This record gives sequence, C-alpha cells and structure tokens, in this order.
Amino acid sequence: MKIGSKEHKELFCHSFLKSHLEYEPERLSWPNLDNIALESLQTIPFWREALNTEQEAGVMVNAFAAKISDPLLKEAIALQGMEEVRHGRLIKFLINQYDIQISPPPEPVLPSNIKTAFLDFGFGECLDSFLAFGLFGLARDHISYIPAALFDIFDAVLDEEARHIMFFINWVTYLQIQEGKSNWLRGINALLHYSRGLQDKIKAFSGSNKEQQEGFTATGASNFIDNLTPELLLSTCLQENTRRLGVFDKELLQPQLVPNLAKIALATLRLIPRRQCHSITQLSEP
Ligand SMILES: [Fe+2]
Ligand SMILES: [Fe+2]
Repeated sequence: MKIGSKEHKELFCHSFLKSHLEYEPERLSWPNLDNIALESLQTIPFWREALNTEQEAGVMVNAFAAKISDPLLKEAIALQGMEEVRHGRLIKFLINQYDIQISPPPEPVLPSNIKTAFLDFGFGECLDSFLAFGLFGLARDHISYIPAALFDIFDAVLDEEARHIMFFINWVTYLQIQEGKSNWLRGINALLHYSRGLQDKIKAFSGSNKEQQEGFTATGASNFIDNLTPELLLSTCLQENTRRLGVFDKELLQPQLVPNLAKIALATLRLIPRRQCHSITQLSEP
C-alpha cells in the first residue's frame, strides 16, 4: 500500500471508524471513592483546563468536519468530533459526581481558521497523548488508593486519543501528499504546528488564572508519585506509547517526532551520570 493513496485513505478511515466504542459517560460504572481518593481527585487542578480543552475540541472538530467534501474523511472527522464532545461530557460528569470545585470554563469560540486550528490541535494531541500515556501508566502502577474502575474509564479515553493521533498523522500525511508537498516541506509544516501546539500548552498553563498555574505543576505528577524522575517519566511514556499504538495496522503511519525526541532526551539523561562517574574516576586516578 502506498502512503497517500486511495487505499491508504480507506485503511486509516476504516480503521478509525471500526474501532469506535459505543458508550454514554453518564452510564459508566463510576466507583464510589473513599475520603483519600476523593480528596486527591478534588485537589488535581487540571480538571477545568481538561474540560475546556475537550469542549473547545468538540466544537472545532465538528465545524471542520462540516467543511470536508470527501464523504469518508467527513464521516471519520465527524466521529472524532462526536468523541471529543463525549470526552467533555465525561469530564463534566466526573466533576459533578465527585464534587470537584472549578470555576466554569468559557463558552467554546470557533477559531477564525478552522483548518489551521484542526492541524494545530492534531499535532498538539500527539504531544499531549504521549505525555498522558506515560502519566496514566505511572498513576495506575503507583497510586493504589484510586479504584481500578476509575482507571478503566480513563484507559478507554486514552485509547480513543491513541485512535485520534493515529487517524490525524495518517490524514495529514495523506492530505499533504495529495497537495503535492515534498517530504521536507511536510517536516517543516509538522514542526511549525508542533511548536504552535507547544506554545498553546504553555499559554494555557501559565495564564493569570490560579488553577491554570497550579495545573502546570500538576502535570508533572510529582505530587502524586514518589521518586518521579524525568528518566522514569520518559521511559514510561515511550513504553506506553509503543503498547497503545502497537495494536494498529502495521501499514499505518505512527507519530514519530515526539517519541524520537523523547528517546534522544532519555539517552542524554542516561549519559549524564555515566559521564559524571567517568570524570570522577579520572580525577581519582593517580
Ligand atoms: Fe479528547
Ligand atoms: Fe482527541
């Protein structure tokens, strides 16, 4: 199968459409939480940002789907829009169910250029999902006071995000090949969108809002996981990324840039103590 061909489009669209899960957030088996679990959930400060992101995504992705003329692509992107709206409902339900206090997020506003917004959002999701896969894996392994049933609910959400980034990276490559863009131009485009996605994240978590500022430190998860090192976080992100994306058809493209950067960062971090040891040995040699 040739990447950018009609067969490629059919494979990534059908793979996305067929793997859709039917569920209603309000009817899931939300577990009762003891006081420790409840308090820990209530003090995680990123719920408002998460709700805002999912609600904005739902509106924007649905608006983008409405502009697509290819029926198969339209169906797939509309399904993603529906899933993002459902993520917003799921987080809203969790906030109400566990009495989490947040100030209401702003009403979603449609961006002026929806295609650019969808591209920025898609690359941003590649970045977010990679980090979320690792943080979730660490939380599930290290936080015993949260019931497994609650982890199960978010496990399904992360599998949906894995489907979204797989769909996105294949769609954007298909689109750019159809538009006649060369390899290097596609690389530059990806870098531009990634950097805008990163800037959006930094803006979201460094705003004047106290919840936003607290949210940034919470994403480090060090409040919840003892002895969390950058090495442990990066290696778990890589393992979880491989595990979650490993279930997809091997002919499909996978997001590469973020995992590759993480591999470089991890190799560099692993090199630092060895260099220090080496220089200590050298110093102690007669
Ligand atoms: Fe989502
Ligand atoms: Fe998503």
